[in-house]
Amino acid sequence: MISHLISIDDLSKAEILSLLDLAQRVESADRRDLFRRLEGVILATLFFEPSTRTRLSFETAMARLGGRTVGFSEAAASSTAKGESFSDTIRTVSRYADVIALRHPLEGTARRAAEVSRVPIVNGGDGANQHPTQTLLDLYTLKKCFGRLEGLSIAIAGDLKYSRTVHSLLKALARFDGIRVRLVSPKSLRLADGLARGLETEETESLAEGLRGTDVLYMTRIQRERFPDPLEYEKVKNVYRLDAAMLKGMPERFRVLHPLPRVGEIAPDVDETRFAAYFDQAENGVIMREAIFLKLLDPAFAG
Ligand code: NCD
Repeated sequence: MISHLISIDDLSKAEILSLLDLAQRVESADRRDLFRRLEGVILATLFFEPSTRTRLSFETAMARLGGRTVGFSEAAASSTAKGESFSDTIRTVSRYADVIALRHPLEGTARRAAEVSRVPIVNGGDGANQHPTQTLLDLYTLKKCFGRLEGLSIAIAGDLKYSRTVHSLLKALARFDGIRVRLVSPKSLRLADGLARGLETEETESLAEGLRGTDVLYMTRIQRERFPDPLEYEKVKNVYRLDAAMLKGMPERFRVLHPLPRVGEIAPDVDETRFAAYFDQAENGVIMREAIFLKLLDPAFAG
């Protein structure tokens, strides 16, 4: 049974597969059969960084299972603004809620929270480090699109230096056989050494080249808020822009994923193509987070 979800490394391959199966069961279940499973459970969403999808999908998932949510969506609204330590905030909230979903701009905070919390911590993103629930919903989306994860060829484009969704996803993909990854980024935003360990990778700076022969393009936003120097961001902010014309001739099976939000890296005309999977991906986020809550909190699904 999982007790916290801090990094995708906390899950064995068997646990990942079991969460993917459970998500599939959640999706095919009648919603009315699930809506009392977590009745009386309280989720706290502590978001020290902006979010739309992650926070609202955690809250929607809990509501669909019959639980309730308390929380805050910006640090300024919490007592950390008065100088309370992060650990004290977690200690306190873990005496109110049954599970905490946390997002924080600093790497390692989710792990620190787990050390002082009495209840499971689910990492909703810690700095540029990890975003394990996003990875699980990405895997679920890929599995739905292709029926498998093994053997896929995946181009990952954009900000490979600062994207926690990429860092998490690569760790998960390395568990599956035969996956080929093409890393597409400008030089200044290359993936740090070691983060694609266990994967067959190639690198390019060209998006057009990255697309060639790939099953999936996983596009990412340039992470403006993580740049120490705003001028460096200005240099790369518009480096890639995928539009429908670039996708002419791509095979039927090809899909574009994006954790969202997008800023300019995918033109709206891509939404109208059969390749766009990013809004389905967001929808899958609720399903996957339901599965995660069931695994963490419902003894019938644990193990
Ligand atoms: C991502 C994040 O917060 O890391 N968003 C999300 O959770 N879907 C990606 C991003 O902000 O670019």
